[in-house]
Amino acid sequence: MQSNQQSVKFLNEDICYYTAGRGRCVVLLHGFLGSSKVWNNIIPQLSKSYKVIVIDLPGHGQSNCLGYAHSMELMADSVFSVLKKLRIKKCVMVGHSMGGYVALAFANKYLSYLQGLCLFHSSSYADSEEKKKDRNRAIKIVKRSPKTFIKPMIKNLFAKRNLSYLKSELQTATEIALATPPKGIIAALVGMRDRTSSEQLLQKLQIPIMMVIGKYDGVLLENTLFKQYETVANKHLLYLKYDGHFGMLENPNASANALRKFLHYCYKK
Ligand code: MLT
Repeated sequence: MQSNQQSVKFLNEDICYYTAGRGRCVVLLHGFLGSSKVWNNIIPQLSKSYKVIVIDLPGHGQSNCLGYAHSMELMADSVFSVLKKLRIKKCVMVGHSMGGYVALAFANKYLSYLQGLCLFHSSSYADSEEKKKDRNRAIKIVKRSPKTFIKPMIKNLFAKRNLSYLKSELQTATEIALATPPKGIIAALVGMRDRTSSEQLLQKLQIPIMMVIGKYDGVLLENTLFKQYETVANKHLLYLKYDGHFGMLENPNASANALRKFLHYCYKK
C-alpha cells in the first residue's frame, strides 16, 4: 500500500496519499499522531470492491506541515485538494478521531461530495475548557520532549486488556507516532484545541452516518459518544465491546466488515 505514494501541492507544500482498488470511492483519514499506515490492516478488504484513498494529513506521515496551527478547516481543504486532483466527485469519508473532526469540517464545506460519513471513534463536540488546558500542557511537553508525550499517549489508545497480546500493533502505532515531527504534533494540538463544535451540523446531516464506539475508549468516552449517536438521523453503529480508541488495529476484521457493509449501504449495492 505504501509503495504507490502520490502527492498534491497544497499551499506550496506536499500532501501525500495512496490509492488501492477500483470503483466507488472511500477516503480514510487517520487520527492525531497517526498516518495512512494505521489503516493497512483493513485496506485489502475494502479495496476488493472500492477505490480506497488514504491521506496523510498535514504534519503527519509523509505530508508537510503548513504552519503553526492546522485548523480542521485547513486540513479539510488539504483533503479536498487530493479529491480535486483525482477528479473524485463523490466519496464516503471515514475519519478516525481527529480525522473525524476533519471529516466534519469537510462536510460543512463540501457536503455535496459526501455519499456517507463515518466517525470512527470521533465526535462533533468541541474541546471542553479542561481539555483545552490539557492541550496547552501537551504543547509545552512536546516542545521539551516529544517522546515523553507520545509513548503513554499511544498506549492509552488501546484497551488495557488488549495490550498483552497486541504488542506488534502497539509497536507499529508507536513507531508511526514517533515519526511525526514535533511541528506537526503542535499544529494539530492547536487546531484541535481551537476547533468549534459540529454538533448542529451532525444533527442536520441526512447522509448515512456511521459511528464506531469502543467500550474501553479512554479518549472519547462511550457514554458521550452514545449520547451523540442519539442525535443522528440516518445512523449506523459499530460497537466494539472489547476495544478502546483504535478499532482498526484492535479489531481489524470487525472494522473492515462493518465498513464494507456501510459502504454497500451508502452506494446501495
Ligand atoms: C486522536 O486520536 O485523533 C486524538 O486523540 C483526538 C483528540 O485528542 O481529541
